[in-house]
Order: sequence, then C-alpha cells, then structure tokens
Amino acid sequence: MPTVLAIETSCDETAVAIVNNRQVYSSIIASQIPVHQQYGGVVPEVASRQHLETLNQEIAQAMEQSHRDWGQIDGIAATCAPGLVGALLVGLTAAKTLAMVHKKPFLGVHHLEGHIYATYLSESTLDPPFLSLLVSGGHTSLIYVKDCGSYETLGETRDDAAGEAFDKVARLLKLGYPGGPVIDKLAQTGDPQAFALPEGKISLPGGGYHPYDGSFSGLKTAVLRLVQQLEKEGREVPLADVAASFQETIARSLTKRALACARDYGLSTIAVGGGVAANSGLRKYLQAAAAEHNIRVLFPPLKYCTDNAAMIGCAASDHLSRGHTSALTLGVHSRLPL
Ligand code: KG4
Ligand code: ZN
Repeated sequence: MPTVLAIETSCDETAVAIVNNRQVYSSIIASQIPVHQQYGGVVPEVASRQHLETLNQEIAQAMEQSHRDWGQIDGIAATCAPGLVGALLVGLTAAKTLAMVHKKPFLGVHHLEGHIYATYLSESTLDPPFLSLLVSGGHTSLIYVKDCGSYETLGETRDDAAGEAFDKVARLLKLGYPGGPVIDKLAQTGDPQAFALPEGKISLPGGGYHPYDGSFSGLKTAVLRLVQQLEKEGREVPLADVAASFQETIARSLTKRALACARDYGLSTIAVGGGVAANSGLRKYLQAAAAEHNIRVLFPPLKYCTDNAAMIGCAASDHLSRGHTSALTLGVHSRLPL
C-alpha cells in the first residue's frame, strides 16, 4: 500500500500525518481552539492565517517523526471539501505544491470520508459493508459504507449538526467553546431524567416520523426556554441536570435512528466518527442499546474522533492503491455531498 503525506485544514485544526494504509507513522495536530475561544467560536479568517503560520513547520515535524524521507512517500493528499474555503485552500495548495516539487501523485479527500476511515486506524479487521454514524460540528449523517468510494447517505439532520447543538447549548448556558467536552464533563454529575426534552423527530406528511432523519434546532430552543422559565421563577439553573438531560436526549435520538438504519439494511456493525463520537453519554447509550440487538459498535480512539490528518491519509492510501488520483486543478468546496 502507498505511504501518504496527508494534510487536514478544513476547520480549526492544522494537521499533518504520514500514513501507510492503517498504520500511522506520524500524526501532528495543532489545535487553534485557544485562539478562537476568545471569540466564542471559529473565525474563518483567523483560522486560515493560523494554518498558514503553522503548516510548514508541521510538515517538517511529521516527516521527522515518521523516520521517512521524501523518496519513501508515494503520494500527497489533502482535504478538499467540505469546510471553510480559506482554511481548505491553505492545506490543498500546500499539498499540490509538494506533489509538484517532489513529483508525487496528488489526491483530494472528502472530509467525511476521512472520518469514516478513522475507524480503520484502530480496527485492522474492519471491512465494508457497515453503517457509519458521523457526528461532528458540521455533520450528523448515517452513511451506508459499501466499499472504498461507494457511500449512500441514509439519514441526516435537517438543521443543526449534533456538535453544533452541543456548542450552541454550551453558549447559552455560558459554558464556553467548544461546548461538547464541557457539557460531557458536567453531565457526569447530573440527572439525565431531570428534564424531558424533544428528540427532534421529523414528521412525515402521511403521519408517523422519518426513521433516519432528525433535527436538533428544536432541542436547542427547548433548552433555552427551560433556562428562561427557571430564571423567571427565580430558581437557580441546575446546570449539571440540564447538561445531562440534553446529552441523553441527543444520545437517544442518534441511537434510535442508527439502530433503525442498521436493522433495515441488515448491517451488523456501526462505526461512529466525528468529534461527538468522543461523547461519553453517546458511547454508553449506543453501546448498551446496540448490544441488545447484537450489533457491534466501534468508536475510534479520541485522537482520531476529532479532526486529524491520519484519517485523511488512511483514505488516501486506499484510493491511491486503486489508482485514484486528482488533477492539480482540483478546487475546494465549502459544501459537497459525499
Ligand atoms: O469532527 P470535529 O473535530 O470537527 C468537525 O468536523 O466539525 O468535531 C467538532 C465538534 C464540536 O462541535 C465539539 O463540541 C464536538 O465535536 N465534541 C464533542 C465532544 N468532543 C468534541 N461533543 C460532545 N461530547 C464530546 N466529548
Ligand atoms: Zn471533522
């Protein structure tokens, strides 16, 4: 299999990795979270500038830590979509330049395909078909993984992504950014049954609910109303209980829809990916429910749940081994279906 130098700069992590198939020789991630924290969220212009400032140094570091020289690199890959356009351009342009200078094949990788491949990095025996539950700051998707490059999106959120809901609720509870890890920690000391919140089901015209699609913006609004009501009554907001109830509602909603997909399509494995895969409440809830249905659930290690370049390299290595490459004219896209 080809050894790939991969770059990921779609949002607020500058990441470079050297990967051969499922083996990671080096993986460097510089998080910009502390820089964006002061603004309460990611500022696209600042993200691009940070990528520019750190990328070259990270490439050198990743090469050094991998104990490989350029002669041992068989291809260069970078995330090309979806994401922040300016941020994506920094990584993609660097990858194209390296490919030209070192005369290597070049490949643009879809960010969500990277998250799907993250599971392979820790599961050497996992092969398609399986169901991928991708839950990140920008996506909440249920994807039927048929083969390398062959994917069918079965379910999605109609509005906010799961991670976005965590971030927005954390903001309204004044807990800071990013919201997921803070709510996760707080929820551990709260009562998940304290407040009943809406799961975000999508009504169908003929009655009943959509089995795979969901919505999280109503849940966020319900948390806002709850907090306003408690404050109006002069009661202290029990932050841990609100966090635990909110987190459990997300976990229940995702679990029901993922299990429905797996059952309907006869898939016995669910691989979870994206930043929200790090959530301890989702992990526990989904594992327990899936076990009752004899479905195996796989979570990548935390370092491969959130954005990283190793997952991009793993996807690229598979594609390059099949002769897939991209033209050097490939552009970036803020939105692009898988
Ligand atoms: O995959 P990712 O790093 O970036 C995107 O592609 O969006 O996901 C980032 C998202 C953020 O919304 C963050 O709040 C959420 O993942 N997140 C979590 C946890 N850790 C990160 N959400 C819930 N629980 C966590 N422990
Ligand atoms: Zn991501």
